[in-house]
Amino acid sequence: MKNLLRQLTQIPAPSGYEHQIRDFIQSTVAEHADEVRTDALGNLIVRKGSGGKRIMLAAHMDEIGVMVAHIDENGFARFAPIGGVRPAYCLGGRVRFLDGHIGVINAERTPDPAKTPSLDQMFIDLGSPNPGVQVGDVAAFDRSFEDLGERVVSKALDDRIGVAVLIETLRRLKSTPHEVYFVFSAQEEVGVRGATTAAFHIAPDVGIAVDVTGWGDTPKVPPMVDVALGKGPAIKIRDRGMLADPRVIAWMTETAEKNGIPYQREVLLSGSTDARAIQLSRAGVPAGTISIPCRYVHSPSEMVDMRDAEGAVALLVALLGEEVPF
Ligand code: CO
Ligand code: ZN
Repeated sequence: MKNLLRQLTQIPAPSGYEHQIRDFIQSTVAEHADEVRTDALGNLIVRKGSGGKRIMLAAHMDEIGVMVAHIDENGFARFAPIGGVRPAYCLGGRVRFLDGHIGVINAERTPDPAKTPSLDQMFIDLGSPNPGVQVGDVAAFDRSFEDLGERVVSKALDDRIGVAVLIETLRRLKSTPHEVYFVFSAQEEVGVRGATTAAFHIAPDVGIAVDVTGWGDTPKVPPMVDVALGKGPAIKIRDRGMLADPRVIAWMTETAEKNGIPYQREVLLSGSTDARAIQLSRAGVPAGTISIPCRYVHSPSEMVDMRDAEGAVALLVALLGEEVPF
């Protein structure tokens, strides 16, 4: 799974511009799928199995990034954020445009050098007065994938780790009594937009998102996040956008215990996932999330523990192989 993850993280796919990664995922999943299609918003929808319950799994393909809003005569671009871009993580960073063009982010001199400049005070240095970049072009943050052993570091682990978990689950799922939809969703980072239309179309009986969550195991972080790297996938109880369905939580925790899969219980104070869109689709859908603990979310050096991802795959394969108990 590590090698797949390395490839997935290095493809730039800011929200709304997921075509490169969608093509890559499509070529990877084709041989394992009963049906593959792409919808109008750019979601890649992969079906396996038929009969039983209609189960929708979702992991988002898109990542945070920037969009050029203005370029001055010296080739300095001002930009708008795509998704939850944090100023402190931008300074000194690099961005990669879809055609491979690289820019570096820096900032105007400000009166108080100790303060992090706002995004308005930053610019992308395109390295030339005629950079071949125009207003409206989009770029993703650029940083290499590094293998630290059990842990890996990269940009865009939010949510390429979820994409890798879904692909690996599809590969390992020999048979299922259900009609399972693996949705590689678009535009999650700008407000779960892809999952909204995909859930309406699929009309699932149950929905499960796979996404990253916060962490509580670095120096002086708020102790409210009772989640650590390497202790297993986290079963979400709530986040800011969703109260996970208690029946789904019970199904997940009981299946994990039955199969000896270590897991954590997650109460997240901020953020949300595609499961929110699924839960609120049509007349409502029982939904939950399997989370991969991830440090420094939305920075160019996010960190996850591969054992948590392996646990998430094992849990999904177990869930999809049995009857849904509600
Ligand atoms: Co995110
Ligand atoms: Zn995410």
